[in-house]
Amino acid sequence: MTTPVGRGAFIVLEGCDRAGKSTQCRLLVEKLKDSNIPAELVVFPDRSTPIGQVISEYLKKEVQLPDQAIHLLFTANRWERAEEIKSKLEKGCTLIVDRYSYSGVAYSSAKEKKTSSFQWYKNPEEGLPKPDAVFYLNLEPEIIAERKGFGGERYESAQFQKDVAECFKKLNDGSWKIVDADKLIEDLTTELYSYVTEIVRLSKDKPLGVMW
Ligand code: TYD
Ligand code: MG
Repeated sequence: MTTPVGRGAFIVLEGCDRAGKSTQCRLLVEKLKDSNIPAELVVFPDRSTPIGQVISEYLKKEVQLPDQAIHLLFTANRWERAEEIKSKLEKGCTLIVDRYSYSGVAYSSAKEKKTSSFQWYKNPEEGLPKPDAVFYLNLEPEIIAERKGFGGERYESAQFQKDVAECFKKLNDGSWKIVDADKLIEDLTTELYSYVTEIVRLSKDKPLGVMW
């Protein structure tokens, strides 16, 4: 059932590590709320669930898992939030989502010893709620390498991030908004916010899509 004001928008921010996604997601939610637009932040991976805890251990290199197994756990971590996402959107809450299925496919398929095909990584995402908009925070690999030191988690190396960026490019179906992320935090927020409010307006009366 839709509320009189319509449903909320499902907006995803994607990009490599250190592109500024988490900061921008947080600031966008604050700005929406300041304008009395109901909004919430959703972050993937959600490390708080039982599946998320295994993912967190994997990222911290405390456990080893085959590429296929960790891939399916990242996907399952989205499936365990899917009903809640749909229900919040229906109630008119806009969701600003820090990473989604695109990170899932890009990071898994960037691995050196690719064990499965691009399509294999996409398949388990089929049926998940589809974002109304994907904003890709674009940073040149050289600039990513210059930003403050990576932590010690898996995937946090300049070369790997370069490979991830290539995979993101392959995954873009042409509908993503590519945003230059090499600018002041507040300037980037202002730019993103104007797109976000437009998507909120356009999504109100549109049915929610299904991945892919
Ligand atoms: P990240 O957004 O960097 O979380 P944090 O801010 O807690 O460090 O996500 C952790 C890592 O997980 C990051 O390197 C990207 C990777 N990842 C996947 O490999 N698959 C996925 O489906 C998602 C959502 C993230
Ligand atoms: Mg990280």
